[in-house]
This record gives sequence, structure tokens and C-alpha cells, in this order.
Amino acid sequence: MTTLSSSFFTGKVVVVTGAGGTLCSAIAKDLAARGAKVALLGRTLGSLDRVAATITAAGGVALPVECDVTDVEAVERARAVVADKLGPVWFLLNGAGGNQPDAITTSIEFTPAELSPDKPAGLRGFFNLDLRKFEDVVKINTLGTVIPSQVFGRELAALGRGSILNFASMNSHRPLTRVAAYALAKAGVVNFTQWLAVYLAPAGIRVNAIAPGFFLNERNVKILCTPDGGLTSRGQNVMNHTPMKRFGAAAELCGTVRWLLNDEEARFVTGQTINVDGGFLASTGV
Ligand SMILES: NC(=O)c1ccc[n+]([C@@H]2O[C@H](COP(=O)([O-])OP(=O)(O)OC[C@H]3O[C@@H](n4cnc5c(N)ncnc54)[C@H](OP(=O)(O)O)[C@@H]3O)[C@@H](O)[C@H]2O)c1
Repeated sequence: MTTLSSSFFTGKVVVVTGAGGTLCSAIAKDLAARGAKVALLGRTLGSLDRVAATITAAGGVALPVECDVTDVEAVERARAVVADKLGPVWFLLNGAGGNQPDAITTSIEFTPAELSPDKPAGLRGFFNLDLRKFEDVVKINTLGTVIPSQVFGRELAALGRGSILNFASMNSHRPLTRVAAYALAKAGVVNFTQWLAVYLAPAGIRVNAIAPGFFLNERNVKILCTPDGGLTSRGQNVMNHTPMKRFGAAAELCGTVRWLLNDEEARFVTGQTINVDGGFLASTGV
């Protein structure tokens, strides 16, 4: 019989990318509170420092490391810093990702006006998208997952243990309107999670993904909520398809994250994407 340890995370090094953001800052704090030593990676040192300060004030161990996860050399440098300051890595959470307004269409379907030389200034259809912005979104969400998986995964494979957790989305399963680049990328994350899980099984490394439903962050709050705290029509549409009738709270991801990482509890689980979505995927909205 396996003896479950309440201190599974104690002293283990976790690398969290996107750790200054809404979801991964909460996850990093939760893992640190359970004794993990947390390396916080992101491009903005100020936001990483704030998360680290909260963790250390509570008696935990956190190391902020400025790093663009789409830059191989920057991730290699971050790995060296983490190895030097915290020791060998056990877990990698690929949380860095997201969307950007210029890669989102303003219309949910084709309109002839997007082809017109007199196209209204505010209209951005598929045929008006700047492909460099489109590529940026695909890159951060796909290569931004692949690169740390290669750099830190190499270390895990050499040690023959550990786990990688990727961040998928509702878009991974069926694309939402307007966000083609993000949807394409997040579908790729699920596919890559399966691919890497198969590839790394002989190395003793499990690879899974978590797919959050709708959790407000600084970016999507502008799309889903009105300035007075109400819902936009898109926000209302999300609510109509969410049986629990609310957005998720970052803390509600932490239990699933801990379960997926914990070899004592999820030892035979790999290649999976676990949805934490208040029932969104189960609902047809009809
Ligand atoms: N919120 C949701 O409803 C939701 C739903 C499904 C999936 N997700 C996914 O869950 C993850 C976390 O989302 P979130 O809501 O916490 O978003 P967030 O608050 O925007 O956090 C994302 C973080 O990623 C970092 N980042 C972006 N590009 C980066 C790069 N090139 N290198 C390093 N770090 C980078 C950002 O920090 P810097 O800009 O400072 O680098 C930011 O702190 C993302 O992958 C997102 O796509 C979120």
C-alpha cells in the first residue's frame, strides 16, 4: 500500500512561467505554501517581485527570474539561475500565454465591409488581421510551452522524474469566435501535451494540461465585463453557457494542479487535459 505524504511538495523545485499573472501567481503561492521552492518566470520583474514578496513574507521560498519564454537563450539562462539558486527542478508549469487585442477580430463572422477600401476604422475582420500579431499569439502559447519543456525537460529526463503541466483553454476543444490565433495555439497545446506525454513516459515524466474555463484577468475583463461591473454581451454569452453562472477564481485551479503534479496521487495520469470550467464544456446553452 502506498503511504500518502502530506508533504509531497516540501523542498521540491517548481518552475512556474507566467508567474506574475492572475492564475499562475495564485498557483505559485499555493505550491509555496505547501513547501515547494518556486521559481517565478516572466518578462516583467516587478510583477514577479510582488508575488515573491508575498511568498517570502509567508515563510516560503521564491525566486523571481526575468525571462521571455519564447527566447531559447533566455530560458537556458533562467535554467542556470534556478539550478544555482534553488537546485534541480521537479516540476514545470507552462503558464505563460495569452492573447492580444490586435490578433482578435472585432466581428464574429465575415462581413463584406472588411474587404472594402472604405472599411470602417473600427472593423477588423479576418482579412484585416496583421499576421505578425497573429504569429505572436501563436508563438507565445505554443513555442512558449515547447521551449521551457525542452530546456527544463532535459533536466527532468536526466534525473528520471518530475512532471510538466501545460495551460490549455476552452478554445483547445472548440474555437471561440474572434480569437482564431489563440484558439489555434491552445488546440496545439493539447496536442503537444499528448505528444510529449508519450515521448517522455520512458523517462518517468508525466505531462498533462489544465484547461481553465473563464477566469477574469487584466486582459479579458475588458472583453467580458463592462466598466460598471456588469457583463458585456460576450460575457453574458459565456454566463449563458456556464451552468455554475459565474467566472472561476484562480484558487479553484490549485487543487487540480496539485493533484496532477503529485506522483503519489496521479502516478498513472499522463497526456490528459483536465477542464476546470464550471461546466462550460458540458453545456450546449440550449
Ligand atoms: N484567464 C483565463 O480565463 C484563462 C482561460 C484559459 C486559459 N488561460 C491560460 O492560462 C494561463 C495564465 O492565464 P492568466 O489568466 O493568468 O493570464 P495573465 O494574467 O495575462 O498571465 C499571463 C502571464 O504570462 C506572462 N507572459 C506572457 N508572455 C510571456 C513571455 N513571452 N515570456 C514570459 N512570460 C510571458 C505575462 O507576464 P509578462 O507580460 O510580464 O511576461 C503574464 O504574467 C495562460 O496560458 C492563459 O492563456 C487563461
